[in-house]
Parts: sequence; C-alpha cells; structure tokens
Amino acid sequence: MIAGTTYTVRHTELKNWVQEMASLCKPVHIHWCDGSKEEYDSLTEQLVQKGTFIRLDPNKRPNSFACFSDPSDVARVEDRTFICSRKKEDAGPTNNWVDPREMKQTLQKLMEGCMEGRTMYVIPFSMGPVGSPISKIGIEITDSEYVVVNMHIMTRVGKRVMDILGADGEYVKCVHTVGAPLKPGQQEARWPCNPTTKYIVHYPEERSIYSYGSGYGGNALLGKKCFALRIASAMAHEQGWLAEHMLILGVEGPDKEKSYVAAAFPSACGKTNFAMLIPPNGFDGWRVTTVGDDIAWIKPGEDGKLYAINPEAGYFGVAPGTNLKSNPNAMKTIEKNTIFTNVAVTPDGDVWWEGMTKEPPKGLIDWRGLPWDPSSGKPAAHPNARFTAPAYQCPSIDKDWENPKGVPVSAFIFGGRRSTTIPLIYQAHNWNYGVYLAATMGSETTAAAFGEVGKVRRDPFAMLPFCGYNMADYFNHWLQFGRDIANPPRIFGVNWFRKDENGNFMWPGFGDNMRVLKWVVEKIKGKSNAVESPIGWMPHYNDLDWTGLEFSKAQFDKIMLIDREQWKTELLDHAELFERMYDRLPKEFIFMRELLLSSLWRSPEKWRLQGEVY
Ligand code: OXD
Ligand code: MN
Repeated sequence: MIAGTTYTVRHTELKNWVQEMASLCKPVHIHWCDGSKEEYDSLTEQLVQKGTFIRLDPNKRPNSFACFSDPSDVARVEDRTFICSRKKEDAGPTNNWVDPREMKQTLQKLMEGCMEGRTMYVIPFSMGPVGSPISKIGIEITDSEYVVVNMHIMTRVGKRVMDILGADGEYVKCVHTVGAPLKPGQQEARWPCNPTTKYIVHYPEERSIYSYGSGYGGNALLGKKCFALRIASAMAHEQGWLAEHMLILGVEGPDKEKSYVAAAFPSACGKTNFAMLIPPNGFDGWRVTTVGDDIAWIKPGEDGKLYAINPEAGYFGVAPGTNLKSNPNAMKTIEKNTIFTNVAVTPDGDVWWEGMTKEPPKGLIDWRGLPWDPSSGKPAAHPNARFTAPAYQCPSIDKDWENPKGVPVSAFIFGGRRSTTIPLIYQAHNWNYGVYLAATMGSETTAAAFGEVGKVRRDPFAMLPFCGYNMADYFNHWLQFGRDIANPPRIFGVNWFRKDENGNFMWPGFGDNMRVLKWVVEKIKGKSNAVESPIGWMPHYNDLDWTGLEFSKAQFDKIMLIDREQWKTELLDHAELFERMYDRLPKEFIFMRELLLSSLWRSPEKWRLQGEVY
C-alpha cells in the first residue's frame, strides 16, 4: 500500500502520474479517497471547522450543509473553457482553442506549487454504474475538500472503482486545483479559489482535463460537464455512441407499458423539474419516473434500439424556483444528506431561496454570508445557487436507473427558452429534420453561465458549452448515427416558455407538461393524432388531454401559432449559425433550411392549426 491509502493501488502508470502531479503541485499530503461514509463525515466536519460549511439543523435537514462561494466563483466560466485539440479545426468555431503545447506551458507554470499547504486528494470515480459496459472511469486529483464531498454524491467513488480499473485499465485524467496555495501562517479563505485566473482545459485526444482557479460546480466537479460531456462526446464521436446534455425519464400509462424519453434543454431551463414531473390530477394511472436529470450516455443495443444510462449518481440542481409546486420530488430529495451552495440560510439553521415560499423568512443570511435586507432589491440566494443530493433519495427514481444495460429510448425532445416563435410542441418529419431542429435550437440565456441574461443564443442540442469537438462534426455524427440504427427514436421540439403580448407565460408548465408528454409517448406508439404544419407534425387541440385544466382552443391556437415574420428572423439566425461552421456543415442542412423557408412561404402568414387563417 502507498501512503494515504486504505487499499492497494495496482495500476503503476496511475501511481506514477499521481507522483508526477504531486511533485509539480507540492501538496503537504496525498489522500487516496475510498468513498466511505467515514471519509465523507470527516471531510464535511473539516469543512465545518474551516468555516466553509455551516451544518444545518439536524432535525430540519439531517446531515446537510450550506456554504457560500467567493462572489467571483458562482457559475461555469465558458469564456475560460478550452478545447485544446491538436488542430484548431477539430475544436471548431464554437469552442475556445489554444495550441495544446502552449496551454501545457501556461498550466505547468500556474500549477507549480499550486497545492502548497493543502492536501492532494485522489478520487477514483465511475461515471455510470460500476462495471456497466457503458460506464467509464476517471481519476480526479483535487486540493478541495468541497470537491471530494460533492464527488461522493455526484459519482460512484472509491475502492470498488479501483478494483474495476485493475493494473492497467483506462481512465480519464482529471486535475483540479483551486489555485490558492497556502503559505505558512497564511489565513485560509472561507472559499479558496483564484479570483483572477481561471482555466478549464480539455485535451480530447489525450482524454485529460485540467481545471485551475475555480472551486464551483461544473468547473470543479470534473466528472460532470468536463468528462461526461466534453471528453465523453469526443470519445463517443470516435466510438459510435452519444454523450448528451439530456435528462432521461420513464413514462408509464394505465396499461403499465413503459416508454423512455431523453430530453435536451439548455442549462436552467427546467430539466430537473421535467425529469421529476408529477402528472396533474385526473391523469389516473400515469406516472413519470426519473433516470437522470442532466446527462445521458446512449449506445445502440444489439436489438437495434438505443440504450441510455445516466452517468451521474446525484443531482446538482438549480435551487431558486424549486418549490413544492414546481418540483415536489426535488424538495423531498433534498430533505437530507444534501449540500447547498449559495442559498440563503435561516436563523434556525435551514435554507431558503427565491421561489421556495411566497414570503421569505425573517433574519436570513444571504449567499454572501451577510444579513439580508429584503428592501435591497438583491436576491437572498444567488440565481445559480445549487443543491447537491443523492439520486437514490428521489421519490420518482426509476427502478432501472442503475441498470448496467441502460434503458431503451424511444423519443428525443429538444426545447429552449423562447418567449416568441417556437410553438408548444411539434414533431420532426424524420430523423434528418429532427437533427436540424436540434442543431438550430435557440434559447434565452440564464444565470447558469456568464453573459447577458435573456438574449437568444443558438445552443445546438443544448450542447454549445459542452461539445468537446467541432460542432459541425457533431451534427454529422448525429445524422450518421440515425442512419445506422434500424428504428431510430422520434424527435420532438417543445417550448414551455412562450409569452403573450403582455409578457406573461402562456403555458402553466411543470406538471401540465404531462399533457405534452402523453401526446409524445402515444404518438410514437401510433396512438395519437397529428396534423402537418409548415414546420412538422402538431397535435390538434383535441389531441391533447385537457382533463383538469382550463385551456381554451383560442389559447392553444395562440401557443401553437406559426408566424412567418418571426420564422424569417429565426431562419436568418440559422443561416448565420451555418455560416460560422460552413466548412464542415452537413450540406443537408442548407437544403433543409430552404425547404423550411419554402413551406413557410407557401402557408398562410399566420399559420394556425387546421390551416385556419385569421
Ligand atoms: C448544469 C448546467 O449545471 O447545465 O447542469 O449548467
Ligand atoms: Mn446541465
């Protein structure tokens, strides 16, 4: 055994690499994580002692903690995220690229002594059920206890992973440092990070990740966005599978037949809510079960169907807006064993965020750790505040969520946050057009990433910040993937966020999304009807189940309206996206855009269902 381990490491190359990183980063200790409860308890206690964690009231939130990050470290940093493939063209026009040789020199200098005064933790983790043929192993080296305890929840950590890795197994190298060495006598920060220098770097050909300067979420928990999306998408491209920014859910009807659906929405567009949906009153016998809320790895099975696993073991969900109406299952999931980051803390040791209850409790401490003044106009919780909670605590967890084979997917749904243009629901005519629909998806930006909030940006497949290679190659991969499978899933577009002329959302959303989901799963079984519109298949008013909701035909017509003027702007945006990636763009897309344009021109200026012109 080597120092700091409770188990034997047989993998010589891994041991050498850890030693090499230790000589560069110069930590005081090396700790090989075993994933045990004792390890979790001792690290959370250490974080409480350091002042990073606040232990919440054990009666209100057993075994749960809150913490506040540095104000400079609250979200993913897309402008500091790099795909350093050997050739710039392989990173493509939507990724930041630096020559890997140059980036290595930069990082080498930054990492020299970066862990001084700190412990280096070595975390063996599995993305996906340990030992599943779809799962993959990573080793994250980090100097952050916060990262270790979050990784305990978000992935499968420890000795059992080492056993699978054996003496020469493949793994993805993940190196993380907060970039804040502690000199002798220097006071430890409550949230150590580097406020001025951040790098999130991926070498897709080498399958390695180096993250410097941030301690937050997707920048630091390297199994999630960095590995399970950016590196995995590059692997999937080479190996013939898909790594997607998708939730996976099961839908069961009164006939007990189960269909699985995977859905891609950009960050903070309600993926967790949709994955944990509770059908509205009157949907007797209908049930939605949760396989995953953020990432799906999908492989063709021997039977020609697609099988998906959720590579994660927990939820790193956006807290604000989560409440007993929007997501009762999430509220139950986070009742215990949960880490809250950048929420507000109540005087009696519980948590609160905007949207949890109508009235905020008195005496809140805000996400900056200061007494909150409700008249300040500033939110008590940061808009990107998060909870980290184990998936098995979710009341709607699917019985097959850890099935190593995955679950069979029969539909893909894509949807952005769009206040205009895009109807509530439509179905692509075929696989190619579905890929076009997903590739041209736009969404109004939110607080999950830096940048101007509320501006429409093209977010192909909700993968813009997460595709680890050239986005145009990714489109080609999807087109080919569909051609290679006998019976590809059907593809649908949704928009829960359309607004009326007064700026109010037209669709109630949340549980009522079941009405759309029911139409989708019945449509794929050939059990529900549709009409052909200029942009795809759409349900008639009477094709959706309106039990328990007053939603008139006029309201439905309005939310389904296809307005040519709005679509003209939309298609101009598609053209702009295509120009950015013209050299490798599937040429099919150019023709599909033309087809869309001509079908819009040959339809009424304001196309409503049944083709009625008003
Ligand atoms: C996330 C994101 O954290 O997409 O899931 O930003
Ligand atoms: Mn996400």
